[in-house]
Amino acid sequence: MKALVTGITGQDGSYLAEFLLKKGYEVFGLIRRSSSFNTYRIDHLYKDPHERPKLKLIYADLTDGSNLHSVLNEINPDEVYNLGAQSHVRVSFDQPIYTANVDALGTLRVLEAIRSMKKSAKFYQASSSEMYGKVVETPQTEKTPFYPRSPYGCAKVYSFWQTVNYRQAYNLFACNGILFNHESPRRGETFVTRKITRAATRIKLGLQNKLYLGNLDAKRDWGFAGDYVEAMWLMMQQEKADDFVIATGQTYSVREFLDEVFGHLNLDWGKYVEIDPKYYRPTEVDLLLGDASKAKKILGWQPKIGFKELAKMMTDSDMKIAENERILKDHIK
Ligand code: NAP
Ligand code: GDD
Repeated sequence: MKALVTGITGQDGSYLAEFLLKKGYEVFGLIRRSSSFNTYRIDHLYKDPHERPKLKLIYADLTDGSNLHSVLNEINPDEVYNLGAQSHVRVSFDQPIYTANVDALGTLRVLEAIRSMKKSAKFYQASSSEMYGKVVETPQTEKTPFYPRSPYGCAKVYSFWQTVNYRQAYNLFACNGILFNHESPRRGETFVTRKITRAATRIKLGLQNKLYLGNLDAKRDWGFAGDYVEAMWLMMQQEKADDFVIATGQTYSVREFLDEVFGHLNLDWGKYVEIDPKYYRPTEVDLLLGDASKAKKILGWQPKIGFKELAKMMTDSDMKIAENERILKDHIK
């Protein structure tokens, strides 16, 4: 089986690549040209003599349709996982048009490329709980109407419906995973969980004094990325393409995440955290809480790692990074 993954250098892309390689897939990852290294999350796979022959990296970009068209027709994958995106909600307010180009039109470009293939591939779209935005009901299910609150959310709604429409209009196997927030030690450092675990561990070792944050009252349904990529694959193994909410069914505030992480390090976060209004969003998503009953019933999927374990996993991992930073700093002195 051949799988093509856009966004392979991102958090989810790296876990999904690991997962698919373990299942024996040949994995084709689309990467962007960058002036600095951007493959650090998958370097361990590339260096592994067992995995390396089955992992192929190809330059491509979701803004370049002709490039996607030729890559897909050349590789002829059985499954396409569209994880590539400008995925930062706050940044989408600064770059709304770029975000729409990548996160909305980018999806359409991939769908069009699939439609041009002789033997069409199955398609997975990385849809998001951010589409529920100013939620109209709690918990959110596959039937909850969308009410996006950011350029990112709007772009993801567009992609959601294009995916549904290509399924209905062209009979493509095209499914949406509506994933609620999921984190890991590989989470980008500007998302709130990782920003907190990086800062708290650095504060513990005297490498940093303050942590500047925005809205501490926002609540999210936080799961572990490693659990969530399995759900993506399960959706692609069904007889019929469909859309699924993937979530833990528990919600916690940013404040509670701070309690958990600083508490684990025996620190009082009140002494270190300051509010910087620049981290507030023009429109906020106050509460997300998913109901993944459909995924449990049809896919047999449920999360393995809960909130406390996730916070501890990320803190312990970042403590190792902070320790190395301190060794380096002492060495330079
Ligand atoms: P991430 O770590 O930010 O990774 C995004 C990936 O997209 C990176 O590989 C990035 O490449 C790539 N990318 C960005 N712009 C691109 C472009 N123009 N062309 C091609 N690739 C591009 O995101 P993630 O957390 O793994 O999330 C994966 C997907 O799931 C995203 O679509 C995200 O919107 C969606 N999602 C995430 C969550 C979550 O909580 N993590 C929840 C719901 C949905 P570089 O490495 O070169 O930047
Ligand atoms: N990033 C960030 N930085 N967020 C902060 C900060 C801060 O300093 N302070 C408070 N927050 C609040 C945000 O206002 C938001 O309410 C919450 O923390 C979570 O922010 P993020 O971690 O940036 O994630 P997100 O929920 O906006 O978006 C993530 O999850 C979506 C799924 O619901 C991203 O991964 C999206 O790509 C994904 O679709």
